[in-house]
Amino acid sequence: MLWTLLLLLNGLLILVLLYYSRTRQNNEPPLDKGFIPWLGHALEFGKDAAKFLARMKDRHGDIFTVRVAGHYVTVLLDPNSFDAVMNDTVLLDFTRSRNLLMKRIFSLQLPSLKPKAERKWMEQHFQGVSLSNLSSSMNTHLQNLLLSDHKDCNPSEWRQDGLFDLCYSLLFRAGYRTLFERRDNASAVYKEFRKFDNLLAKLARCSLKRGESKTANSCRVRLWELLSPNCLSGGSGSNSWQQSYHDFLQEEGVDAEMQNRALLLQLWTTQCNAGPAAFWLLGFLLTHPEAMDAVKTEIRGLTLRDTTLQHSPITLLEAHSTPVLDSVLSETLRLTAAVMISREVVQDKSLHMASGQDYHLRKGDRVCLFPFLSPQLDPQIHQEPQIFKYDRFLNDDMTVKDKFYKDGKMLKYYTMPWGAGSSICVGKEFAVTAIKQFVFLLLTSLDLEMCDPEAKLPPVNPSRYGFGMLQPDGDLQVRFRLKRTLREM
Ligand code: HEM
Repeated sequence: MLWTLLLLLNGLLILVLLYYSRTRQNNEPPLDKGFIPWLGHALEFGKDAAKFLARMKDRHGDIFTVRVAGHYVTVLLDPNSFDAVMNDTVLLDFTRSRNLLMKRIFSLQLPSLKPKAERKWMEQHFQGVSLSNLSSSMNTHLQNLLLSDHKDCNPSEWRQDGLFDLCYSLLFRAGYRTLFERRDNASAVYKEFRKFDNLLAKLARCSLKRGESKTANSCRVRLWELLSPNCLSGGSGSNSWQQSYHDFLQEEGVDAEMQNRALLLQLWTTQCNAGPAAFWLLGFLLTHPEAMDAVKTEIRGLTLRDTTLQHSPITLLEAHSTPVLDSVLSETLRLTAAVMISREVVQDKSLHMASGQDYHLRKGDRVCLFPFLSPQLDPQIHQEPQIFKYDRFLNDDMTVKDKFYKDGKMLKYYTMPWGAGSSICVGKEFAVTAIKQFVFLLLTSLDLEMCDPEAKLPPVNPSRYGFGMLQPDGDLQVRFRLKRTLREM
């Protein structure tokens, strides 16, 4: 009797699975559900999305649909077809998955906030006069912090640190002081933020272990406290970016608790990318002497042309172009920026590919672009794509190289570290200036070298694909000391 019942139940389960199990319909992208019911490819995706998606690309080509934890995600890897996704803001929605992540990671819900109004506010605050004020404040904070970090040291004495910590800590604290205008607690915020940031990918995927969950919660609460306007002692100026953002949320009808939680989201958005980017950039320079020589020669040229002899990074970088450093930055970001651009299909739609083929997308599915695989690491677009070539984005006449091709077509998107379309990074100009100021400052103020001259850059942490700048698994040990004079460079 028991066996019959079990067999019946089994049969019923198989029928239910078959009924609900999806099959590929006409005109739909290739479907790969994986072997595990419901979960599909979730484990492989979370462990190393780049490796998994490269495998799927080899198997299925530039477009395919995979099952990931109950969701069907269509991945598009042909940059010539990206506009079909970027330009459709009606049938493809980016706010839903963003809201879900905001809730999961930051315990934040902002139902009254209109995304377009927030975007407009952000754009206003990162361009024109606001941008140049922010950049000049960043410059001052970077210089002051570099000097104050060395104030207790004998100038000729070498210090040792991990390059990642050195870059992230300085850029984070300077960025925090610039936007949040707090002087008193930048180090405490940085320390807590790093703990939180380390758990971020797991928070987003709901894969925290119990102990980690406790740590994430307590970091979040501590950061809310540290960022709270009530906790001010160093004085947030009434016209600070933070204060202005607070006022904006107030006008949009966001309650006090959510206003405060939103500050943590903004802290993460504005501070989590520049430090890691500067680490990879300096790491590539230190491990590629010809690139380091080319950058130093360019910087020396700028300082020699500076008749005022002030050598302030901001004035020099504003007054002169730096094609070599720009190319190094683009090449660094090509290799280490890994955003995932995700949209939800709100109504059945047809996706028109550059090849002329149309694919049917189902309502409720997601569409995802992963520019890290293509265009950024696509061998058809960039020769030897895994290799760092400091002059990849330079023409022979030292102008910016911006013409790249795939299948004979010139590409609009040949590298996409900043995302694209309606959600493109609003802080791009500020970030580029800050990273360049930072590199300039470090190379002109410090003797900086690897502790082990034969050392290699650490590999990337594969769990961070999809979250903007990649981070290293490990660090690169460096030693440094303040230069006695600028001429020593
Ligand atoms: C190397 C440094 C940086 C990189 C690679 C980068 C990349 C990105 C990317 C890919 C996005 C879009 C994410 C998406 O599609 O959901 C984004 C959004 C954003 N970034 Fe950046 N970012 C950097 C630095 C900065 C800095 C320094 C700031 C400001 C101080 C900033 C402010 C923002 C803001 C406010 C958004 C949200 C835009 C929106 O929601 O509409 N970013 N960033």
